Amino acid sequence: MARSGMGRWVCGAALGALLTACNAAPEVQSASASVAQAPDTKAANTPEALLARMSLERKVAQIIQPDIGSITPEDVRQYRFGTILNGGNSGPYGNDKAPAADWLKLADEYWEASTAPLPNGEPAIPALWATDAVHGHANVPGATVFPHNIALGATFDPDLIRRIGAATAVEIEVTGLDWTFAPTVAVARDARWGRTYESYSENPQLVTRYGAAMIEGLQGRVGDPGFLGQGKVAATAKHYFGDGGTAQGVDQGDVNGDLKDLMAIHAAPYPAAIGAGVASVMASFNSINGTKMHGNKALLTDELRGKLGFEGVVVGDWNGHGQVKGCTNSNCPQSLLAGLDIYMVPEDWKALHASLVAQVEDGTIPMARLDEAVLRVLRMKQKLGILDGEVKPSARPNGGKWDLLGSPEHRALAREAVAKSQVILKNAGVLPLKPGAKIEVAGSAADNVPQQAGGWSVTWQGGGDLTAADFPGATSIWSGIASAAKAAGSEAVLAPKASDTGTPDIAIVVFGEQPYAEFVGDRKDLAFRDEEGLKLLKAYRARGIKTVAVFLSGRPLWVNRELNAADAFVAAWLPGSEGAGVADVLFGKVQPTGRLSFNWPAVCDAGPSNLRSDVLFGQGYGLRYDAPPPPLFPADETCAALTHDTGATWFASGKLSAQVQAVADNALLPDLRGSGNGIVAAGVDRKAQEDARRITFGPGAKLTLTGPDSGAAWLITYLVANRPAGPVTVTAGGKALDITQGLSVAEGKGWREMVLTPACLGSTGKALTFGSVAPFAFQIAEITRDEAAAKAECSF
Ligand code: BGC
Ligand code: BGC
Repeated sequence: MARSGMGRWVCGAALGALLTACNAAPEVQSASASVAQAPDTKAANTPEALLARMSLERKVAQIIQPDIGSITPEDVRQYRFGTILNGGNSGPYGNDKAPAADWLKLADEYWEASTAPLPNGEPAIPALWATDAVHGHANVPGATVFPHNIALGATFDPDLIRRIGAATAVEIEVTGLDWTFAPTVAVARDARWGRTYESYSENPQLVTRYGAAMIEGLQGRVGDPGFLGQGKVAATAKHYFGDGGTAQGVDQGDVNGDLKDLMAIHAAPYPAAIGAGVASVMASFNSINGTKMHGNKALLTDELRGKLGFEGVVVGDWNGHGQVKGCTNSNCPQSLLAGLDIYMVPEDWKALHASLVAQVEDGTIPMARLDEAVLRVLRMKQKLGILDGEVKPSARPNGGKWDLLGSPEHRALAREAVAKSQVILKNAGVLPLKPGAKIEVAGSAADNVPQQAGGWSVTWQGGGDLTAADFPGATSIWSGIASAAKAAGSEAVLAPKASDTGTPDIAIVVFGEQPYAEFVGDRKDLAFRDEEGLKLLKAYRARGIKTVAVFLSGRPLWVNRELNAADAFVAAWLPGSEGAGVADVLFGKVQPTGRLSFNWPAVCDAGPSNLRSDVLFGQGYGLRYDAPPPPLFPADETCAALTHDTGATWFASGKLSAQVQAVADNALLPDLRGSGNGIVAAGVDRKAQEDARRITFGPGAKLTLTGPDSGAAWLITYLVANRPAGPVTVTAGGKALDITQGLSVAEGKGWREMVLTPACLGSTGKALTFGSVAPFAFQIAEITRDEAAAKAECSF
């Protein structure tokens, strides 16, 4: 085969043709062309030598990163993608909760597919698989789930963070993967941002130190013989840059200001990350002064490459290129031209591959730019050692060593991190707990491993329908307390809703935020609205029982009411799988050393907490047992946002109002997600990612939404793909309405609005119930209550 004028293999004129024609003649395939099969030809496997033997199609495939949910090993064999990812909601073989063995099996399949010999001297180059191991290898059931970064920031212990990186890398290797999209080195400056918990601190200097420590843990130290070797994986510093600085803390939003000032805060962690040899940097979704980073040559190339001297791979974020002006997910030369090396293109990889090939052919993209990007990908593989006769993942030293996944050593390390991250905000003489004390443990978060793990745990959003069974080997906060109590000669009982008759000496109330990830966690203010914990604390106090509040959250929040109601208050963050670390501090087995790496707000209304003067507890605050606590305070309980929230918006932009509950009979569907009693509520995209829900009804299933009773009408934006096969009713205010006809008419007509008013539903009340006799599914994008529409007729 000869090269054509465009520098591509003639037999690759059409990729399909290449595969059929060339694969039909295996005898012409040269085994030495396969990297994997040529361990003895190191010189032939340098990135430059490999590049020289690649067709245009294969080069483009090196810079395309599809999601495991949208490709088969056969696609990998055909296209030879350079890298592959699993998004937070993708597990092997379409199973989000796939067991660890499936991950390794699939890693082997990808490896086999990518290293199958190619004809005509084209090199077969192993594909790399990347995952979001952002707090341990937490997509995989049974892995050690470390506390989220905000908690690690509170430990002020870079060595601990380094050890966590090292343990995480080993667990990743056990399942056959090579690369993690971590650490996040965002400097979160506005806690309303839903990713605040991925940030170590709002202080750039701290993020700089901890980010570099995590990178060293994951990759090893530059210059050490073990760098990126056995027990090490490639790390990613993300998201370059400004992710934590968007206006109002809106995820993927715009960052405004003088570029120098912005870089001094948000790009601050990158020089240290680059110095630590970080293999990749992920471009951020956000824009800087109106320009999306994925298309920003001045920042991706001139700054990151030129001034900061980064030589590794710049990977895009999830369809981030599609957000560049003039681009779509499947067509965006702008990003490569701006300096991106890998397109993260979960689903539209085929069309993007075709458009990029065409754009190199017609000169829109210079071959030199493509070659540069491909070389960077190949160099990363070279550093990881996989160009030199590496064997398939399961045959590598750590591959399939299941005793290393969630090993006792790693769990002990996670527990140490949990204990070191507990920040005691208040202690009126009740902590540490006295030996022999009678303890009652209340709150729905007490025995709730998914909640203490938070987002990016088994699933993208975490929580929802996950249970403790999805985290084999994990310990809830309650079970940690139970063991510690036993050891201390104390008696502990679990009473999630509090017992009426118990006579404990002390009650521990565990409560906090429900899990979320990315934009789903964005908030308009910092008020913590869920009153479960508050009510429990007050009820105990009314009975003369002392209380300890254990607060689970991904950020500092306004909790003045709870602080006043409790005798002691512990910020426990999102501790992960080793809940026993909380008890270590409560019982005084470990001296509390955790301190805030974020300011804690005194007021609930909008505004970045770090810029305020009215903070309740400043950075560095945290009480110890060996020093007297400061004088007690009653914190101001007024919060205008609490009363201003009229609860008129029940569901919008993918979020359920904090004042609204969704239940399938008695199964709670937090954030209108999850399943139970015949209902499955799943995130679907309307205008933005997962901003709507698909509600699937099994026969006879019912979904009820309960919220503030305003007497107003409901406006519901919905879509019906297939008409109901049996009667569907909506019930409110004691009256049922058959809406089967309306839903049938809506079939295939796209998004429509349903108006449900007192005129057809009696007094509308505060609960709305949908029920279907036969299996049925529809989508909902918005539910709002509208006073003005209250007098109208019902309509669909
Ligand atoms: C996340 C992925 C997730 C996907 C779901 C992305 O933004 O990063 O990990 O699986 O959305 O749509
Ligand atoms: C997130 C990244 C993540 C990627 C892959 C994106 O939505 O912003 O942090 O690495 O998805 O899951």
